[in-house]
Amino acid sequence: MKRIPIILDGDPGHDDAIAWVLANGSPCLDIRGITTVCGNQIIEKTTYNALRICTLLKLEVPVAMGRRKPLISEPIVVPNVHGESGLDGAHLPEPQIRLESEDAVTLLARLLTESEEPVTLVPTGPLTNIAALFLAHPELKPKVARISLMGGGVHHGNWTQAAEFNILVDPEAADVVFSAGVPIIMAGLDVTEKAMIFPEEMEQIRALGNPVALAVAQWLEFFYQFHKQLGYPGAPIHDAVAVAALICPEIMESSAFYVQVETTGDFCRGMTVADFRGKLGKKPNATVLMDIDRQAFVEWLIKTIAAYGEGKA
Ligand code: BDR
Ligand code: CA
Repeated sequence: MKRIPIILDGDPGHDDAIAWVLANGSPCLDIRGITTVCGNQIIEKTTYNALRICTLLKLEVPVAMGRRKPLISEPIVVPNVHGESGLDGAHLPEPQIRLESEDAVTLLARLLTESEEPVTLVPTGPLTNIAALFLAHPELKPKVARISLMGGGVHHGNWTQAAEFNILVDPEAADVVFSAGVPIIMAGLDVTEKAMIFPEEMEQIRALGNPVALAVAQWLEFFYQFHKQLGYPGAPIHDAVAVAALICPEIMESSAFYVQVETTGDFCRGMTVADFRGKLGKKPNATVLMDIDRQAFVEWLIKTIAAYGEGKA
């Protein structure tokens, strides 16, 4: 089977971690490297978490740290959602994997340059690294096959009325990425809030019994406790949808829209504004995921995590 080369870029984060578990467990993806970004927690914490996740997964790929801050704004961290560590809830091994000495943008540029074929980027945090890459190396855009990202929402936000967290943290970066001319698959809140795992499914995952399944069940439980207070019946694992979109697109529904990012405005900074009616006469720049067959998604997730007990990690 021809595997899709990908680079994971994220701010783990419970749903980032689960997304990476699924990417690593899927035989059709070839993870070439990992870059970290500040988002859910400060960069030192998201990077430490990335190294711990790789150690748990026995995933030996280059990992590089992103910048300390978004392009222009100050960081926003969310210990109320992901805990003080950024990934509370599970006991993880100390890192056995060394952090690369090069920074995230340098690693991204190197991996793209070295690759014989275009690579898919999978950002599940603020888009700071991807924007910095495009600003520093516009010549590498043709080496990016597409970007499957978690961010935004064409109908609503979660951090403000209008803005989703990843886009709100670095709207200028998101603007650079959505304007880059590289194909985008946008897993925004429209679909990711439907990618919900219910408590009884968390127990099914725990019962798989392998160390990865146990960590995933504990992450889900922690993430659910936050969402429960907001009235959610389960844990929406937003970032996992950006990975699922590459592996099982047939379980999703999407629409192609021209999407712009609001970088100013008193109420709407960080909003992803879709031109639903084609008013601008522009070619769509994003395939926006709108719906998911939740049952099929959960079945795929459980099957992928079960495989870790069969020697995957
Ligand atoms: C996004 O924000 C983060 O807290 C999650 O990891 C996800 O990437 C959802 O808005
Ligand atoms: Ca994330």
